[in-house]
Amino acid sequence: MTCLRIFQKRIHKHKILSTELKDIESRGDIENMLNSFYKKAFANNLIGRFFTEVVPLDLSTHLPVIADFWEAVLFNTHSYRKNVMEIHQHIHQLSAIKKVHLDRWVQIFTATIDECFAGEKANLMKQRAQSIAALMDVKLNYKQFNKL
Ligand code: HEM
Repeated sequence: MTCLRIFQKRIHKHKILSTELKDIESRGDIENMLNSFYKKAFANNLIGRFFTEVVPLDLSTHLPVIADFWEAVLFNTHSYRKNVMEIHQHIHQLSAIKKVHLDRWVQIFTATIDECFAGEKANLMKQRAQSIAALMDVKLNYKQFNKL
C-alpha cells in the first residue's frame, strides 16, 4: 500500500532524520488498510482460496461491512451488529479454517498495518485481530468449547 500521509521529521532542510508513520485516525484509513490487506489475502497461496473459491468475496459490497466492523472495534461506533463467529463457523463448515490459516491471516493483517501505521489505534487493531483469531481457533477447532 502506498502510505498516503507519512510524517517526516526534518531537522535540516532536505535532510530526513527519521520517518514516523501516522496512527489510524479515520474510516478512510481503515478502508485503505483493508483494501491492501485483502489484495494480499486473495493472492496468498495458503488462504487465498477461501476468498476466491470457498466463499467468493465481492469486495465492493463486503469491504464497507468489514470496515463497519473495524470502525466499531477502534472507534466504538456501534456500526456492526452481526455475529462474526457464526459467519466464520459457516465458512469453516464449507472448508476447515485451521490454526495455520488463522496464523497466516494474522501475519498478513499485522504486516499490512505495520507498513503504513503506528500508534495506539494501530496497536489496538493488531491486538484485536490476534485475540479474535485466537478465539476463532478455539471455537472452530475445539468442539468442547463450542458454547463459549
Ligand atoms: C483464516 C482466517 C479467515 C478467513 C479464511 C476468513 C474468511 C472470510 C470470508 C470468506 C468472509 C466472507 C463471508 C461471507 O460473505 O459470507 C469473511 C468475512 C468477514 N471476516 Fe473473515 N476470515 C478469516 C479471519 C477473520 C478474522 C480473524 C477476523 C476478525 C478479526 C475476520 C473478520 C471478518 C469480518 C468482520 C467479516 C465480514 C462479515 C460480515 O459479512 O458481516 N475474519 N471472512
